[in-house]
Amino acid sequence: MAAPKKSPQVPPVAAGSAPRDSARAARVKRGTRAQALEIIFATAVLEKEGFRHGVLGIPRRGKTYHLKEVTTEALQLGICEWVFIHDCKRAEVQYEGNVRADVADLASRPLAAEDEPIVVFHGDPANGVRADVEECSAFALKHGRAGNPTLMEVDELTHGLKSPRTWAVPNSSYGEIIREGSSQKVSSAWTTQFPQWVPSECLDFSETIAIFQLNGRSLSYIVEMLRLPPEAEAVIKNLKKGEFILYTMHGDWDQTIYGPR
Ligand SMILES: Nc1ncnc2c1ncn2[C@@H]1O[C@H](COP(=O)(O)OP(=O)(O)OP(=O)(O)O)[C@@H](O)[C@H]1O
Ligand SMILES: [Mg+2]
Repeated sequence: MAAPKKSPQVPPVAAGSAPRDSARAARVKRGTRAQALEIIFATAVLEKEGFRHGVLGIPRRGKTYHLKEVTTEALQLGICEWVFIHDCKRAEVQYEGNVRADVADLASRPLAAEDEPIVVFHGDPANGVRADVEECSAFALKHGRAGNPTLMEVDELTHGLKSPRTWAVPNSSYGEIIREGSSQKVSSAWTTQFPQWVPSECLDFSETIAIFQLNGRSLSYIVEMLRLPPEAEAVIKNLKKGEFILYTMHGDWDQTIYGPR
């Protein structure tokens, strides 16, 4: 994993607004979203493999906004040539791309050669059709293994789970993507508001996890699970919209707040 770029654009600030937090907080640096993306894709670029990235945070903090940038950058870097997105969280479609209800709908309405290689599985809420994470992931895995570098994104991972840390089906295809996909050019990205629900392989195998604001038990849980230093806890609790820290599998916390720009 490449070291994060130096040259923070904004002077260091003390994290934490309350005096209690300030006392505990580290002097943190500021980083740009571009610098964060460089870290997120460092291993994939170096190893010429896929990438695995997670996104955590309370509602409306910028997880989806961030994942949209990850999608664009992954395509631009050539890490993937196809993107499949499970996007069923809101009534409206959140991601840009060719919207299909589910895999059956994609089969009956395949993309044309000139279409952008992005498929957004949104279900058909008006008619009670939900896209199934397992089905979409199985399709993406097969598509990737057939020689098409593919990214499978799940915006709200709990849609693929039946209870905390448990996939909706045994031998989940998304679990398989997380465990084995990277070396087979199948990348993964996921986001959730519920850290305690995240299956252990997502925490164990994701090279990077962007952590937006968290609090309460969710925050204590993730600090414990990712072995983050105590000063990171105070920082995460006080992050503003669009700001996040980056956990990296191979390194210590870089004491940097990324975003909002
Ligand atoms: N860095 C940013 N710069 C400008 N606007 C942002 C930024 N991050 C998020 N926003 C805006 O804030 C709002 C909430 O962002 P977003 O939908 O990404 O949050 P979220 O964490 O995915 O929420 P939810 O948990 O409800 O899915 C959106 O209108 C988004 O465009
Ligand atoms: Mg979102």
